[in-house]
Amino acid sequence: MLKIGDLKLKSRLILAPMAGISDLPFRLLCRKFGAELAFVEMINARSIGHKSRRTRSMLSTSTKDKPLGIQLLGSEEPYIRKALQVLKEYRFDILDFNAACPAKKVVRRGEGASLMKDPKKLSKLLKLVVKGTKAPVTVKIRSGWDKDSVNAREVALYAEDAGVAGVFVHGRTKVQGYGGSVDYKSIKEVKKALKVPVIASGDIFSAALINKMFDETGADAVAVARGALGNPWIFQDRKPDKKEVIQIMTEHLNSCVDFYGEKRGVIIWRKFFGWYTKGFRKVRPLREKSSRAKTSDEMLDIIREAA
Ligand SMILES: Cc1cc2nc3c(=O)[nH]c(=O)nc-3n(C[C@H](O)[C@H](O)[C@H](O)COP(=O)(O)O)c2cc1C
Repeated sequence: MLKIGDLKLKSRLILAPMAGISDLPFRLLCRKFGAELAFVEMINARSIGHKSRRTRSMLSTSTKDKPLGIQLLGSEEPYIRKALQVLKEYRFDILDFNAACPAKKVVRRGEGASLMKDPKKLSKLLKLVVKGTKAPVTVKIRSGWDKDSVNAREVALYAEDAGVAGVFVHGRTKVQGYGGSVDYKSIKEVKKALKVPVIASGDIFSAALINKMFDETGADAVAVARGALGNPWIFQDRKPDKKEVIQIMTEHLNSCVDFYGEKRGVIIWRKFFGWYTKGFRKVRPLREKSSRAKTSDEMLDIIREAA
């Protein structure tokens, strides 16, 4: 069993936060295949508003959508304080603070991975977050800013000192983004240094890579991210046949349309077509078609054609 603060988890596989992906339909789908703790998309402390439609949509949940983590991005105390106030109205089981996002517009504002360069500031912000919520607080960090400044261990120790109940480590530097190899050693060093659980992230694409991550780092859990795109079966460690892929594509599309309405739901689901059909033969023209589909019927026809 894994314990993050007072949250008890049976599974050591966690669905990582993914902006633009981790909406309610996607989380429920992954849960159906065994994901336990799942995260909503990253929420920017600046843009979170009491009654904004976007905030409500991002934080939409349901009785089956548990246990649920949310993730906050920010670097300025007043915005973070306000966000914590707004979040009091929502129910969630864990609050993660993002110090890992490498996007230009994020790091330019001193948010996300740029906090890796200032562990003291990160620690101050984490203290504020820990004080401002009842849920256990975790932080998501990277191995460092660049290969010459790998400092995950130091940052993680600051975070633990600030009162976090767990640390997620993406074993890549900010400069690496999402490419290049995962630095298992930096995660192992964090694990060795901390008392709180360490959740490892990076290239979790198969059972073999999950095992490799556990073996090489000693981490308490792993976070599944790109490995779950078009592949919720990763949580069951099995490969589906084509018929099942088609069935799940259909279900997932339908749930997106139910959740967002037809027009938006189809547009949002388009990107999943390519992920689900990885390895299908002669699928390229269908991928192109799917990227233009506007109605649910059009998309369902394309899915049927792929079968
Ligand atoms: C499309 C996409 C969106 C992501 N959004 C977030 C995010 O909002 N917050 C976060 O902490 N990490 C985010 N990540 C990073 C993942 O959670 C994960 O740490 C990273 O992809 C490494 O794992 P992987 O190599 O197994 O995909 C995102 C990754 C992808 C591919």
